[in-house]
Order: sequence, then C-alpha cells, then structure tokens
Amino acid sequence: MNTDQIVRTFVEYFEERGHRQITGSSLLPSPGDPVLFTTSGMHPLTPYLEGRPHPLGRRLVNVQRCLRTTDLDEVGDDTHLTVFEMLGTWSLDDYDGPQSLDWGYGLLTEGFGIDPGLLHATVFGGDDRSGPDTTSLELWQEHGVPVELTVEDNWWSNGPTGPCGPDSEIFLWTGDTPPRSTPTNDDRWVEVWNHVMMRHRRLDDGSLVPLGQHNVDTGLGLERLSSLLQGHSSVFECDVFEPWRRIVPGLWLLDERSLRLVCDHLRSAVVVIGDGVRPSNAGRGYVLRRLVRRMLTVLRRDDPWRSLVDLPDELVVHTLHHFRQNMDSHAVREVLLEEERRFGRLLERGRQVLARPRFRGLLREEDFHYLHDTHGLPRDIVLNLRSQ
Ligand code: ALA
Repeated sequence: MNTDQIVRTFVEYFEERGHRQITGSSLLPSPGDPVLFTTSGMHPLTPYLEGRPHPLGRRLVNVQRCLRTTDLDEVGDDTHLTVFEMLGTWSLDDYDGPQSLDWGYGLLTEGFGIDPGLLHATVFGGDDRSGPDTTSLELWQEHGVPVELTVEDNWWSNGPTGPCGPDSEIFLWTGDTPPRSTPTNDDRWVEVWNHVMMRHRRLDDGSLVPLGQHNVDTGLGLERLSSLLQGHSSVFECDVFEPWRRIVPGLWLLDERSLRLVCDHLRSAVVVIGDGVRPSNAGRGYVLRRLVRRMLTVLRRDDPWRSLVDLPDELVVHTLHHFRQNMDSHAVREVLLEEERRFGRLLERGRQVLARPRFRGLLREEDFHYLHDTHGLPRDIVLNLRSQ
C-alpha cells in the first residue's frame, strides 16, 4: 500500500463507523495559543475536547501535519521526523477507550493485514492520582495481545497544562526473530498507534481535575506506518521520501545519518515556509532558522562549497503538493537561498571576530555573551567555527 492508499483506508474505515472527516489545519496554531507549532492531531481540537460542540459531531477523523522540535536530536534514527503527518480519530464524549482500541486492532489486522502475533500493547498501570486502566487491559486480554503496564510512558498530555489522560499504545514487532521481550525493554517494538483516554485536565499547579466529558484521542504517525507496511525499517524509505532518496545522494555525498537529517530538515523547512513562516530571531521564525542552519552545517561539514542553489525544484514542488500547500516553489526556494546567504555572512563575520587574539584561548562565559550580544553569534556557531 502506498501512503495515499493507507490514508484512504484509514479514513474510510472510520467513516464506516460514523466518523466525519475534518480538514487538517496548518502547522500554525490559532492566535493566542502559547505553543509555536501544532504538535499533534488533537492540538487544533483542544476547545472541542474541553466541551465546545464540534459542528461535525462527536466522531471525527483526519490527517494533520505536525512539527516536533522535542525530537530534533533523534532525527536521523529510523523513526523520528521533524514534520510528519498524523492520522487521528476522536470520540468527543461518545464511545469509550476499549471501543477505540477494538477498532484500532481491527483496522491494523484486517484493514492493513498485520499479523496479530506481531502486536504488543502497553497500558497505564496506575499511580497515586489515577487508578490502573483495567478496561483497556481487559480489551487486550480478550484479543490475546500481550500487554505491558507502565506509568509515565502511558500518560499523555499535549503540554504542562490542559486535557490529558492515560493512554494505551500499540506496538509492532520489527525484528528478524520471532517477537520477544516488551516495548520498554526492546526497541524493535515500534510504537504505531496511541489511544488516549482524555478524561482529565491538568491545572497550572499540576493538579488533575475531571474534564467533564469522556473523550478518546488517537494518533498514528503516517510515515512510520507507511514504512512498516512497505517493509522498511526506516521512515526515510517509505514512498513519500522516494524523490528525496533518488535525488539528494546524487547531489551531495553524505553518510546515511547526515543524508536523513538534510532531507528531514529541508523538507520540514519547505512545509514551514509553505505555511507562511519566515526566518527570524524569535518564535516560529527562529525554529525555521535553526532547521536551515543545522541542515547547512551538516551539509557543508565535508565541503564548504555545497549550496542550496543546487536544490532541484522537483523536491520543493513534491513537498508542497504532498502537504496541499499552494505557495509558489520558486518563492520557497528564494526564502531558503536568502537564509543561506545570511548564514554565510554570519559565518564570515564570525571567522573574522574569532581570529582576534582575545578569542584564541579558552572562551569564557562573558566571551560567549559578548559574541552573541555584539556580533549576533550564537554559542553553537561559535563552537562550530572554533572546531573547524
Ligand atoms: N495525541 C496523542 C499523540 O499525539 C494521540 O500521541
């Protein structure tokens, strides 16, 4: 199944069970939201999870693009991406967790043809604030799926405050041997689908109060599922990365981890620009700037002459099209190129400043402050220039 077919199968399966498809939002949360980017499928639905009636009813399904900077250091491994898509379903005070897990099991095994013997679940084991999630546990036992009970790993919230609750995660075995061990003890168990029983709200003081309605919020990383169903261990090998893997290695010779980081950060930067963000020194613009600079730093590690001037339009067009963004690809490239020029000027200035006798020895904290405040040189760039 290619990624489009996976999305169609998912949406139709839930439409047949009374869900209405809602259009995914952009990466930018609505004004007033303190979070910079949409980080999960439920994020734009927060008011409805908190009680506002949704115009399309109480059962929803969608595909939502998300951006997570918390995973930035993990990009380059098999499973993490900065911008990714999440398939999601919601019960807004309608059906309960076990029903959601039962449908999830049905879709994975019958809809996507996954061998039930390769599944493992985790369930919230209870702590001093909330009891164990026995109904989810029973559901898995009825299906004969092994279960691991955890505490921290099975509690989900979108931030320090707001809707949250115990969750049950479904893992798929990716090893070459028959399945063994448990998800927290063997990372060949890869998480594919999270079902959150969203019944609580966390307040500013950290305490939990009932949300007033029983919701279920589920999220399934699309690229991760696609790669597993397509028989690949890495998200970078699923069909949505096909043009990247075909074109980028011919442009720039990179080791596998660097190749993945360059593809991830470039693709993410295109989507962020396509959603209207421009590089700057604060907020969303700074996240974009960091992505571009990290990517350029890796790209030029072996060859300082590498440049985004060589980036083929096809990759930008493919990404904008995939994310249904209508910005002109040349305009996106221009933003990237301008940022590259700006970064080049900063590095040049940095080299000149750091060549001064004052900065030859060990740098002190006050040197870093001076370099940052007077010359706009962040610590990571200073360290990078000094290591060259
Ligand atoms: N909101 C939950 C997650 O992102 C489903 O994992």
